[in-house]
Amino acid sequence: MSSIHLEAKVGDIAETVLLPGDPLRAKHVAETMLDDAVCYNRVRGMLGFTGYYNGNRVSIQGTGMGMGSTSIYVNELITTYKAKNLIRVGTCGSIQEDINLGQVLLAMSASGDCDANSLYFEGMQYAATADFDLLLKAYNAAKSMNIKTYQGSVFSTNTFYDTRENRWEKWKKQGILGVEMETQILFTLAKRFGVKALSVLTVSDNIITGEGTSSLEREQSFNDMMKIALELA
Ligand code: HPA
Repeated sequence: MSSIHLEAKVGDIAETVLLPGDPLRAKHVAETMLDDAVCYNRVRGMLGFTGYYNGNRVSIQGTGMGMGSTSIYVNELITTYKAKNLIRVGTCGSIQEDINLGQVLLAMSASGDCDANSLYFEGMQYAATADFDLLLKAYNAAKSMNIKTYQGSVFSTNTFYDTRENRWEKWKKQGILGVEMETQILFTLAKRFGVKALSVLTVSDNIITGEGTSSLEREQSFNDMMKIALELA
């Protein structure tokens, strides 16, 4: 048996699944950081791999960008493939001046503009939170590797492009650390289905100051993020 958007057979996907937005990033991690990685999905080019990290079985599955695409893969990974730990690994834009490019964030919670949530919760707001065990494990893993992390809230949006002036001002004042496009629906679905979720993010740009990262900085922070996430397998 497989699901609508994944051609893997039940059993092909590990209980712990890392979720980058970019399927080519899934391929890169599988090729460079996992042992014995096997590609289990090519449908729509949304590559997914299962391999081993320090002897622990782990999968890495692209989600695409935004909460619509992410929700499809998260639903199918949980309901068909019985994934138990879902960990987003991605980038975000910082909206705090003191959170610099290349820093790693552990998302404790995600606010956002997920239309699926607005419909599901009939206009009321659900507080989407990370799983505490995964959060604590990630925090401790980072500490033991001397990688500095920021713990806090992110905002997940379905609109990357928006013409509103000062769009992020109130969210910045509200203490949101960064903006990305997937975490709110990941946390919401994981809780609904009784599984664990976390988001580990690297800051790729600062939305307030307009700074962006060089490819070298991106690679270093990407490696830090992946080392933390892979310790959760
Ligand atoms: N908006 C949404 N998602 C992002 C951004 C952004 O500016 N930067 C990195 N991910």
